[in-house]
Amino acid sequence: MAREEVLQRALLAALICLGAATLGARADLVQVGGSSGWGLGINYPLWAEQNPVYVGDVLFFVFPPAIHTVFALPNNQSLTACDFSNSTNLSQPNNSNVAPGLVGVNVPVSAPGPDYYACEVDGHCLDGMKVAINVLPGPRPVLAPAPAPGAGIAAGPSGA
Ligand SMILES: *[C@@H]1O[C@H](CO)[C@@H](O)[C@H](O)[C@H]1NC(C)=O
Ligand SMILES: *[C@@H]1O[C@H](CO)[C@@H](O)[C@H](O)[C@H]1NC(C)=O
Ligand SMILES: *[C@@H]1O[C@H](CO)[C@@H](O)[C@H](O)[C@H]1NC(C)=O
Ligand SMILES: *[C@@H]1O[C@H](CO)[C@@H](O)[C@H](O)[C@H]1NC(C)=O
Repeated sequence: MAREEVLQRALLAALICLGAATLGARADLVQVGGSSGWGLGINYPLWAEQNPVYVGDVLFFVFPPAIHTVFALPNNQSLTACDFSNSTNLSQPNNSNVAPGLVGVNVPVSAPGPDYYACEVDGHCLDGMKVAINVLPGPRPVLAPAPAPGAGIAAGPSGA
């Protein structure tokens, strides 16, 4: 094998590995509540229905820290009752990529199944500031590229 060819093959192999690694590492930063963020008056059940979350994604809670908090609750009953026993306070900000006056918390999701989050301030949870997120097994599917115009029309054998 010529030296050139060896190099070319090695480069190709490296590119394939890189591509595979990039695909495998596909993870989204999912802002909870979309552009509305974490607050009152947001339809979280609808948001959760429309925004699937996959293992490997990172949930991103954005909120004004003097007004709201983020707690992880242990189960659906505690979410329904807004019972904060055995909950975990996740309100310590660790993503500073937010607008002034807001804080951001990144919560990586590493296991499939439902996760429960709510604001523990005053009656906010009972007012609907809570969300059940059913984390789907990863990896997040990569969107297929849009078919080229006309693709599929001229797929049959021509002139047959
Ligand atoms: C959580 O509890 C609510 C209220 O009881 C119920 O409607 C819902 O189906 C439950 N969700 C799950 C995932 O069990
Ligand atoms: C909190 O944890 C304790 C100990 O595991 C358990 O007995 C109790 O039922 C839990 N409470 C709730 C609301 O989950
Ligand atoms: C950010 O904070 C959340 C909530 O406490 C935690 O789950 C996560 O591991 C933290 N991330 C980093 C990079 O510290
Ligand atoms: C939750 O954590 C935040 C940020 O560290 C803190 O300001 C708040 O007082 C905590 N809330 C409770 C009820 O511990």
